[in-house]
Amino acid sequence: MCMLKIEDYIRDIPDFPKPGILFRDITPLLESSEATETCVQQLLAMIEGQKIDKVVAIESRGFFFGILLAQALKVGFVPIRKPGKLPYKSFKEPYNLEYGMDALEIHEDAITEGERVLVHDDVLATGGTARAACNLVEKLGGKVVQCNFLIELKSLKGIQKLKNQEVRTLLKY
Ligand code: PRP
Ligand code: MG
Repeated sequence: MCMLKIEDYIRDIPDFPKPGILFRDITPLLESSEATETCVQQLLAMIEGQKIDKVVAIESRGFFFGILLAQALKVGFVPIRKPGKLPYKSFKEPYNLEYGMDALEIHEDAITEGERVLVHDDVLATGGTARAACNLVEKLGGKVVQCNFLIELKSLKGIQKLKNQEVRTLLKY
């Protein structure tokens, strides 16, 4: 039994990227192969017993653990990216930022109708990013089995945007 605590590998950075924001930095976690492995095992435990066909993760910090989860589950990995990054025909989904809008894209052949999908990202904040990712998966006919995150920032209430989804998170702040 591993007694390592994931939260010990999250570094708090005050006033990043803007004054007043406390940034939860996961780079110390990534620098430790032991902590990264523990994190993967804990994320896998959250979906134990569920059939997953694809892992979908969101550029860029979602990619770190998304690809590890896909490999551990022995299923394919699908990147959701910021606009203009994907080379093939893509679907786009706009979403709200604190100030303004952004969008995410997915290749239109990345998921087959009926595939069971795990959506992963590092952080659930306002929920706009994860909601847009789920919408893209559903647009392609995929079923979002679970959205999982390393960190939920509870005060931003992102969970409210994912009401119709199964949501699991390792750490809540
Ligand atoms: C951060 C984080 C999540 C998203 C959560 O990504 O990695 O993807 O914000 O925010 P939300 O719940 O309010 O939508 P960011 O867009 O900063 O980009 P990055 O992953 O490339 O650093
Ligand atoms: Mg991100």
